[in-house]
Order: sequence, then C-alpha cells, then structure tokens
Amino acid sequence: MRKIIIAGNWKMNKGLAETREFVSSVVYALINIRSNRVLPLIAPAYPFLHEALRERGGSALQIAAQDVSLNNDGAFTGEVSVSMLASLGIKYCIIGHSERRQYHGETDSSVRVKMLKLFEQKITPIVCIGESLAQRDADQTSGVIISQLNGCLSEIPLVTGTEIIIAYEPVWAIGTGRTATPQQAQEVHALIRKWLVENYAPAVAENMPILYGGSVKPDNLVELLACEDIDGGLIGGASLKAEDFLAMVKIGSNN
Ligand code: 13P
Repeated sequence: MRKIIIAGNWKMNKGLAETREFVSSVVYALINIRSNRVLPLIAPAYPFLHEALRERGGSALQIAAQDVSLNNDGAFTGEVSVSMLASLGIKYCIIGHSERRQYHGETDSSVRVKMLKLFEQKITPIVCIGESLAQRDADQTSGVIISQLNGCLSEIPLVTGTEIIIAYEPVWAIGTGRTATPQQAQEVHALIRKWLVENYAPAVAENMPILYGGSVKPDNLVELLACEDIDGGLIGGASLKAEDFLAMVKIGSNN
C-alpha cells in the first residue's frame, strides 16, 4: 500500500531561525502522530538544509532540496551538485518544478539528466510535471502530461516504482488559490498511472507515489486524498505554517 506523502515546498521562504523553529516544533508534534501511513517532508532553501537535517534528528520528518545542478563540480557559480546534497545526508530532491522551468530554463531533458545523477547518490527525485492554463483551456492537458512523462522518463530504469515520486502540479493552480477539483486532479493522476503500466509494468504503476500540487491546504486535502490515485500533496504556501503543515500530516495519517 502506498504511503501518503505530505511534502512542503518552501520555495524562497524562511531564514535560519524560522527553519529551526519550524523543524523543532514539527518534530516535537510528530511524536504524537506516530503513523506508518504518512511521510512528512519539507524542502527548505539550500543554506538551511544542514540546520534542518540537524534539527530533525531521528524524526520521521524528511528534508528535501528544491533543485540540484546538472553538473558534477567545477566552475558553475551559484550551483549545488548532487554529491554536495548527498554529503549532507539529503534523501529527496525536487526537480522540474514549473518555477524552475519558467524562470531558469529547466526542461524535460535536464530533469532526466538530474534524475540519473540523483539515482547515483541514492537520492529520490520528486519529479514535477503539469500543464499551463493555456494548455488546459486548449484541451491539451493529456498530451502535455504524456509528452512530459516521455521526455523526463525516457530510458529511465524504473523497476519497483519507488525510485521516484511524481508530482502533478497544474501551473494554473500554483499559488493562485485555484485548486484543481478532485476530479480534474484524479483524471490526470489516473492518466499518469496508466502511462506507467503501459511503459513499465503494473507493479511500477501500483507502487509509485503521485502527489498533487497547487493551492493544497488543510481545507481541501481530505477530498483530494479521497481520490484513488492521489497519494499526497506537494504544498507551497500552506506548508509554511507549522500548524497547517501538521494539520495536513494528521489528515494524511488518518487516510
Ligand atoms: P502552492 O501550494 O502555494 O499553490 O504551491 C504549490 C507548489 O508549487 C508546490 O511545489
């Protein structure tokens, strides 16, 4: 049975003291949410990953990076490599987020290269895909999703289905307060799972966590998680308040 993953993508929010305070309060509260059903995770900004890892101790709270460089090392000012993340003890890394695609030239093929590099260091990629509003309005959602899956995963070896986490984030629902309806999200999640059956194997499709992202909050999480193929959320704004994050972890643990 797939776990529910409650993943907070903090984007460019929170400094050192706020990261420390959030992690310590969440770690403390998680003692009372002992559940094997849910995997809580946050992705702070690079400079605070070390502190977040230190503060989490042996807690169930996992720490992810928000991106990683395509390059191994050398003259790439401002970049952070996979081996640097591995040296910190990072186990998860978001790649292909629409904000990286929109503002920093991320493409399906760069996502693919990053994924292979992350595999080498045993870091689980959280691979983001999703259509824009114009694409949805033009009825192109399925085509865009399939093309992103083909582009990101072509010749990527997936055997168990637990090697990666997919996050479906319709761009029009990110930070807009406009969530996809559970039906709209479920339709795309089912399409992704069908693609995994056809391109890999039923077991890969069955085991792979597929998260929904785009204006998820405690108020709409229950109905999203009620959908058969939605295994959790990749959450921006609502993951920044420890209280809301914990409320969502609780909802996940009861699912
Ligand atoms: P919001 O939850 O703020 O819409 O952000 C979603 C997101 O982009 C998570 O990666």
